[in-house]
Amino acid sequence: MKRSRVNEIIREGDALIRSFGFVLPPFAYWSPEELRDKRPLIGGIVGARLGWDITDYGQGRFDELGLFLFTVRNGSEADLKRGGGMCYAEKIMISRQDQISPMHRHIVKAEDIINRGGGVLALKLFNSDAEGNIDHETDVEVATDGLVRRQKAGDVLRLNPGESVTLMPGDWHAFWGEGGDVLIGEVSTVNNDLTDNIFAEPIGRFSEIEEDEPPLHLLVSDYPTWFA
Ligand SMILES: [Fe+2]
Repeated sequence: MKRSRVNEIIREGDALIRSFGFVLPPFAYWSPEELRDKRPLIGGIVGARLGWDITDYGQGRFDELGLFLFTVRNGSEADLKRGGGMCYAEKIMISRQDQISPMHRHIVKAEDIINRGGGVLALKLFNSDAEGNIDHETDVEVATDGLVRRQKAGDVLRLNPGESVTLMPGDWHAFWGEGGDVLIGEVSTVNNDLTDNIFAEPIGRFSEIEEDEPPLHLLVSDYPTWFA
């Protein structure tokens, strides 16, 4: 994906988020140069990979297969291992109408996926089988705002604004917006996007960027090269 397109998606996404009265934290708006200047003070941002994450899953078809994410907070895996402290994370995301986030599961992370407003959030769900692969047979049971719902393998769960679902590690899920773009909240266990996403198809997690103009803001996937 071209950097100019990433910049455009950031501008559009920020406007959509603000239209719902949600405002991102100050570091969202620091330029790459400001981030670099503050580097000694922002170990918590770089280390936890907080910030912008515009992904086309390396496939170059963002409108059909992609997701806008901003990681607002993210705890520590050491705390998670010792069972106390900052074991949580939060993201704000946008799934555009008919824009698919492809089928995947997590090994460690449980996540509440929340429709914060806009269209209907559709999620296709499967259980894992004993090997961790998609189980095409067994019924799926998920908690939706405390209410247990049971549905057939591969059926689509539809969440209206205000509704959410709790997905546990091993729950296979793909999602997209229906009838409009959807502002999505994610409240989860500590998040590690480098190791904790298992995709059904062989795809990447991050975009490959073609530099055709300067970045408006860095993506989390830019941190290793910018802060090497
Ligand atoms: Fe997920």
